Amino acid sequence: MNQEKTKIDMKRASENPIDSPGLYPDPENLIKEESLDLSILGKLVGSSTVSVNQFDKQLILELCKFAALLEATEIASSHPLDGKIIITAFFEASTRTRLSFESAVLRLDGKVISIPDGRTTGTAKGESLADIGEMLNAYGDLVVMRHTRTDAVHDITSKLRIPLINAGNGTGEHPTQAMADWYAILKWNPKLKTDVADEDKVHLGILGTPGSMRAVRSFLEMSLLFKQGIRKMTIVSEMADPLGPILEPLLKKAGIDYQVTNDVREVLGDLDIIYMNSITFLGDSYKSLDARFRLDRDSQLKPGAVVLHPLARLDELSTSLDDTDHNLYFTQAHGAVFVRQALLISTLNRFDRLPASIHTTAEAIK
Ligand code: CP
Repeated sequence: MNQEKTKIDMKRASENPIDSPGLYPDPENLIKEESLDLSILGKLVGSSTVSVNQFDKQLILELCKFAALLEATEIASSHPLDGKIIITAFFEASTRTRLSFESAVLRLDGKVISIPDGRTTGTAKGESLADIGEMLNAYGDLVVMRHTRTDAVHDITSKLRIPLINAGNGTGEHPTQAMADWYAILKWNPKLKTDVADEDKVHLGILGTPGSMRAVRSFLEMSLLFKQGIRKMTIVSEMADPLGPILEPLLKKAGIDYQVTNDVREVLGDLDIIYMNSITFLGDSYKSLDARFRLDRDSQLKPGAVVLHPLARLDELSTSLDDTDHNLYFTQAHGAVFVRQALLISTLNRFDRLPASIHTTAEAIK
């Protein structure tokens, strides 16, 4: 990617509202001279979000632009989710996803009832997820669920009549994480929204095992929507078959130039975006895969390259990178609140509660 040509507003720690170390791209990067089409977001009304494959590029772009407007605009006084109850049902540990969803709701004046630990529900007595789903219909307007089992989404939706947002199901998917990932990337480099000149295309590196890690899988699948800006994709993994039987055909069908290697040194100096993760819930416990690939301040990263990580991290991502301009991972986590707000407002059809300024932006540019 041609760094000279990429002049994007970046706010440093001293300027950004939460004093986050690392890069803090301005959300205005995504919305200046841009349109927001609420009618596209209207496709989400009443729908469950289970998989990245439900989304096309246009819908992800509108969600990201909506998130940028929410990040750049004070909207709490409009109470967009007033009267709505969101149920966060977490049957697997979480720091960011549950709390960012709950923060998103509370900052929009909705209410939250929460299962922070599934073991405190009737599952401890052998209750099925289907029966829990039947109960949740009466208690709230939308469910955000995380579970250790990949098929848990199928089980609960068999009886759920209110929308579900999949917040991570086993080794399956984590679609709102991928939205947060691409929201951060597009704020950092809005050129990737559209067709870009060859010299501006990026080499995307994935350090991890997409076939076994839901966040990496969802990120990779969403990246295919933005393939026109990707020069090359490299998957760096210690596993023999890191893509597995579903992702490999998807990459081939997308016509992406990709390679798989187990030696990060082959590519590190050429990568513009590095997405990494090591923790996955496999079988009945957390495992760390690909942890021998470590990045720290001394790693030979390309100037201008950014690192994303869904977090939590282990040794693979040194804290010595936190206060460098390679750190896009804190912005990635912080911006998740706004992406999740955009998704919640859209799913719950609360566009009419948005402040006039957002409607004006949307109308003026239609
Ligand atoms: N990124 C992510 O899913 O983090 P948590 O496990 O803390 O929710």
